[in-house]
Amino acid sequence: MKISEFYPREVFANRTVFVTGGGSGINLGIAKSYAAVGAKVAICGRTEEKLDHAKSELEALGAKTHAVVADVRDYDALQHACDQIQVSLGPITDLVCGAAGNFLCSANEMSANAFRTVIDIDLMGTFNATRAAFEQLKETKGCVLMVSAGQAYMPYTHQAHAGAAKAGIENLAKNLALEWGPLGIRINTVVPGPIEGTEGVKRLADEKQKHMMLQSIPLRRLGLPEEIGQVAVFLSSPMAAYITGSQIVCDGGMNLSGSALFNMGVHQAQAARAAHATKSSNDQEE
Ligand code: COA
Repeated sequence: MKISEFYPREVFANRTVFVTGGGSGINLGIAKSYAAVGAKVAICGRTEEKLDHAKSELEALGAKTHAVVADVRDYDALQHACDQIQVSLGPITDLVCGAAGNFLCSANEMSANAFRTVIDIDLMGTFNATRAAFEQLKETKGCVLMVSAGQAYMPYTHQAHAGAAKAGIENLAKNLALEWGPLGIRINTVVPGPIEGTEGVKRLADEKQKHMMLQSIPLRRLGLPEEIGQVAVFLSSPMAAYITGSQIVCDGGMNLSGSALFNMGVHQAQAARAAHATKSSNDQEE
């Protein structure tokens, strides 16, 4: 059954959704879900080519769209993007803070700049977007969704940077829900599990690790981008009018299993790489 069959088109007809990092992956899945229920959709990202491609996909769903190149680490660029969106699509009613960066790296091998880069994209980027859109959200009594991750509340090896950033996002969401609730603005987070075909899964798991990961997901499959989109649309809808400061976990139950299998997979892959490197250097010496 399609998402458009669940929501009468007039519910989202006058909504303007802004998805940061909306050019690909989960965020594009979210943007497409809003487009499918009739919202106007704006996206931003760093790569024009990706944005152009995503824009055509959104337009194919019948959405009026606006794509703008903006790095969420750059507050002025985001403020400019929000101003442009207001002119082209009307004031922002729904903001999705999705832009994120990640890679696997042990804390002792990570440079301070590497750690800061992920904090800047994920946590600062989320603050920058909400702050830049604030005046419009206040006017529309809007809704904010921050994309979090399981790393926010469970340690995952080689994920100290992402864990710190996402835990910060969880706390920020609650603070903003407290401060902006009286203005009619709702703020929630969604915690996706591993999602099929995304950059996140590509970066965090090779095929062998993916197989192990599946064993830790009670529903025994990866999620789909549109399944996170369905959560986003629900939280924006009148059906969620009394939900703020909440976290919705959409991960096939993965959080119930902890991170041990993931950690084991990372360590095994690391050991295999070290063994391969030793063998190659021995072969060269012979
Ligand atoms: N392991 C260790 N350090 C890494 C790394 C890795 N795999 N990838 C990047 N870094 C370090 C760099 O070495 C650099 O640190 P240094 O200056 O001390 O050498 C620092 O991180 C910044 O890297 P840089 O490539 O300059 O940053 P960027 O702004 O161009 O890219 C990233 C940001 C690193 C997050 C990049 O991976 C990215 O663009 N990701 C976006 C997509 C993504 O991650 N999607 C998944 C989301 S879940």
